Amino acid sequence: MRILITGAAGFLGSHLCDRFLAEGHEVVGMDNFITGTPDNIAHLIGHPGFEFIEHNVTSFIYVKGPLDGVLHFASPASPIDYLEQPIPTLKVGSLGTHKTLGLAKAKGARYLLASTSEVYGDPQVHPQPESYWGHVNPVGPRGVYDEAKRFAEAMTMAYHRYHGLDTRIVRIFNTYGPRMRPADGRVVSNFIVQALRGDPITIYGEGEQTRSFTFVDDLVDGIYRLFHSDRVEPTNIGNPGEFTIRELADLVLEMTGSSSALEFRPLPQDDPKTRQPDITIAKAVLGWEPRVPLREGLERTIPYFRQLVEEGATARAM
Ligand SMILES: NC(=O)c1ccc[n+]([C@@H]2O[C@H](COP(=O)([O-])OP(=O)(O)OC[C@H]3O[C@@H](n4cnc5c(N)ncnc54)[C@H](O)[C@@H]3O)[C@@H](O)[C@H]2O)c1
Repeated sequence: MRILITGAAGFLGSHLCDRFLAEGHEVVGMDNFITGTPDNIAHLIGHPGFEFIEHNVTSFIYVKGPLDGVLHFASPASPIDYLEQPIPTLKVGSLGTHKTLGLAKAKGARYLLASTSEVYGDPQVHPQPESYWGHVNPVGPRGVYDEAKRFAEAMTMAYHRYHGLDTRIVRIFNTYGPRMRPADGRVVSNFIVQALRGDPITIYGEGEQTRSFTFVDDLVDGIYRLFHSDRVEPTNIGNPGEFTIRELADLVLEMTGSSSALEFRPLPQDDPKTRQPDITIAKAVLGWEPRVPLREGLERTIPYFRQLVEEGATARAM
């Protein structure tokens, strides 16, 4: 198969490129580097199955030759990024989704949208099944991301229903692993870098809010299975194992051998207090469930950040 992956130079996109190439497919990566970096795909340059096109997917997309799949992963994804880039975030979720759907239709390709657990907002149902419609503040600061993704899902389903496009929607829950940007404000990378540097670990609120963390290899495996399945409706992929933010901080401190202090700050607006996937459908339909426990995932993630910290990159540059 020949597959287009947008957001290929990002955290998840680059791991997806690796997986599709490892399975013997050809991959066209596309990215405009707004939050991604060429470093994430440097190892693929020269790979016979890989080509890269630098392009903003909110504009008309031209890809020469046939495509069997389009995976739309381009979008700022961390709260710091999408709060700094509210309009590009709305545009890539709306215009970018429209352009990538149009491309998939023109090429007769299967389409997979990267959606998010953020479509559930600050959920009033716990854990969240796919049938839950969510609790989102459209005009709050996070609305730019949540509503862009909700629109993207609606657009994807419209292409499926109206044009008969073969579509998939994955609702991704918090994922971590090598190639996350250290300064993008996501909790796992934040804590690891703070611990490795001996800086205070910043905890918002009391740290009692819970999160579930999926190791990137588990997530990519779920997405790969979903892509090859027949399931059109949105599908949660995430690790239901819940940890409080405080527990994560303690584990990171232990595993890095750091003596960083904990620093408590006020909770940001609309920060969800709990979020946990119901993965009944992924288990039943895809035969998928997460296999990598948090401790093992951190063991496989910390060395990546240790190397970056040792190379002396500054927080902002990383
Ligand atoms: N990482 C997570 O935990 C998580 C959770 C839920 C959903 N997601 C979704 O997965 C996708 C990838 O997230 P990520 O964590 O890899 O983020 P990321 O920021 O590392 O990667 C996103 C990539 O998209 C590129 N991009 C953004 N706008 C673009 C545009 N207009 N044109 C071309 N390229 C563009 C960026 O440069 C970057 O390389 C996103 O759609 C995100 O919403 C991620």
